[in-house]
Amino acid sequence: AERTALPRDLEGRRVVVSAGGTREPLDPVRYLGNRSSGRQGYALARVAAHRGAEVELLAAHTADLVRPAGVELVPVGSAAELRDAVLTRADGADAVVMAAAVADFRPVDRAEHKIKKTGADPEPVALTRNPDVLAELVRTRDAGEVDVPLIVGFAAETGDPDTSVLDHGRAKLARKGCELLVVNAVGDGRAFEVEDNAGWLLGDDGQVAPIPFGAKSLLAATVWDAVSARLGHQ
Ligand code: CTP
Ligand code: CA
Repeated sequence: AERTALPRDLEGRRVVVSAGGTREPLDPVRYLGNRSSGRQGYALARVAAHRGAEVELLAAHTADLVRPAGVELVPVGSAAELRDAVLTRADGADAVVMAAAVADFRPVDRAEHKIKKTGADPEPVALTRNPDVLAELVRTRDAGEVDVPLIVGFAAETGDPDTSVLDHGRAKLARKGCELLVVNAVGDGRAFEVEDNAGWLLGDDGQVAPIPFGAKSLLAATVWDAVSARLGHQ
């Protein structure tokens, strides 16, 4: 059988990909976190590098994954750290893909020393809102402070009685103001801690491309196809 070479359509491009789940510290040894494995973000980074891009992978907490060859790995912890890394590195990039699971909230206080138990019941943990990194990046770009033509978001949605997964996705794309949004249908064992994803790629031009149930590298290829088409030939 004939082997088809991967396209080198991202040659000369610089892309920034975020991956994994942020950890919001409570004290020096404890945090609030989430179950993101980082696999989708890593697949995006690996495929982009194969297709010729210079890739910066901003990695929050992930499963034990191998760093993709030819990718610059930038470890980040909390949403605040991720925000700083994204805003710094987005400037001059061709695309930013926000595949990270960013905590919406963080503890108000971060204890300087390890919290010790006492005889008494603990105080409830007070939370505050984290910055919305994706929305802030779009705002900053639209204000002319950061130069990046393409911003891609991710959304993992379950439908509910009033609104379908796709409609949740459309609303989120409009709310975030990014150019592309990957919508994953979750539930039925999909998206979290599994090898496969299924969903749609939505464009701000109304484009709706279904992404078949398949490997995360297939979803990554679909995203880079759309990015590459929008960037055009240099
Ligand atoms: N995101 C972000 N900063 C946050 C939360 C989310 O940059 N504080 C990004 C994610 O990386 C993802 C996109 O926004 O690309 C959508 O994340 P999601 O959690 O689905 O959106 P939210 O606006 O937080 O809405 P929800 O209430 O559904 O969680
Ligand atoms: Ca969220």
